Amino acid sequence: MQSSDKKHLLVVDDEPVILQILKAVFEEEPWRLTLAGTGSEARRILESERVDLLLTDKNLPDLSGIELLRIAKAREPLCEVIILTGYGSLETALAAMELDAFDYVLKPLNNVFDIRKKVRQAFAKQDVALENRRLIVELREKNAAVEAALEETRSLQAELIQSEKLAGIGTLAAGIAHEISSPLFGIMGLAEAIADEQDLPLAQSYARDIVEYCRTVRDIVVELSSYSRAATNEYLTTVELSRVIHDALRLVERSSDVRNVRFETAIEPELFLNARTNELQQVFVNLVKNAAEAASEVEGGGLVRLAAGRTGNHVWATVSDNGPGIEADKQRLIFDPFYTTKAPGKGTGLGLNIVYRIVTKYRGTITVDSRIGAGATFELRFPVDR
Ligand SMILES: Nc1ncnc2c1ncn2[C@@H]1O[C@H](COP(=O)(O)OP(=O)(O)OP(=O)(O)O)[C@@H](O)[C@H]1O
Ligand SMILES: [Mg+2]
Repeated sequence: MQSSDKKHLLVVDDEPVILQILKAVFEEEPWRLTLAGTGSEARRILESERVDLLLTDKNLPDLSGIELLRIAKAREPLCEVIILTGYGSLETALAAMELDAFDYVLKPLNNVFDIRKKVRQAFAKQDVALENRRLIVELREKNAAVEAALEETRSLQAELIQSEKLAGIGTLAAGIAHEISSPLFGIMGLAEAIADEQDLPLAQSYARDIVEYCRTVRDIVVELSSYSRAATNEYLTTVELSRVIHDALRLVERSSDVRNVRFETAIEPELFLNARTNELQQVFVNLVKNAAEAASEVEGGGLVRLAAGRTGNHVWATVSDNGPGIEADKQRLIFDPFYTTKAPGKGTGLGLNIVYRIVTKYRGTITVDSRIGAGATFELRFPVDR
């Protein structure tokens, strides 16, 4: 490779006179000029140096100009070639054009300036081709950079998904803690009641309730340990809704936080759902607890209403309160995990998220209807087959 930036022009002709004329024509040009009197000498130059333009006689005694053209193009496809030819061999000159020669010049040389013009044009064409080649290389490099950036984005995304999963495990763990805290809360209340209870049969019924709550905790733990297994129907039973709702109510009523709240129920009998009892209990405990906590803020006395019934092939239940209500733009946030407006240590913000997860698991829906100052109503709907 030549280090020079100048264009290299190789002129090949076996007639010294022509070489002299062409030398004179090109001498003033800003190109590096090499003259060769034989085909083999030209080949040696083509094979050892960069040649930008080959101006060659077609009929050399040792090697044809066409052969030189092939060598030049094989070494550098952007090398331009101009063929010098006599009138007699015009056809072969045209054949050279097919081999991608830039042009041909007829001998004898009548207008040497015409040759110079053709060489200049060939260089101009070459410059465009070189610029295109440079742009293609640049484009390829940019493509590669974009590919690399894409690859990095993909791996970042994979990392993100991974950390989302980890966050999910955290949510799950916190959720389990929350689920266990509800029955625990019941056990504590009942145990306290037993301590002060003189009436033995009543104390015994509290003790039975405690056993019930302990079973719930055990079920939650069993469920956690089998979490990796796909959910099965094995624990599904026919659950009577009014029983679940009344159990949840009893649990919340005992809590000391909601002393000034009145509870009303309007629950149709014989509403059945195919579900896990403790999951449905979770749903109602959380909804009633939220409602009671909201209603307990009402000065004249809070009210929580529970209703349930069946319409067509849906079982529905509503939990309403006369508390402060929920702002419209917060209503879609309340089901997110960890969203809470309660004081630190008071609420985890997981209650409604657990409710949502359980309800959707049973193909149910949960909606909230609320206005500031006018309380809130949560409505559940579950499809039933029969
Ligand atoms: N009946 C309601 N009236 C007014 N706001 C409510 C009601 N129910 C839920 N919210 C709002 O939704 C938020 C989220 O409720 P969620 O049950 O998920 O968590 P939390 O009650 O704050 O905490 P935790 O359930 O752990 O005690 C509450 O902090 C409260 O702002
Ligand atoms: Mg809550």
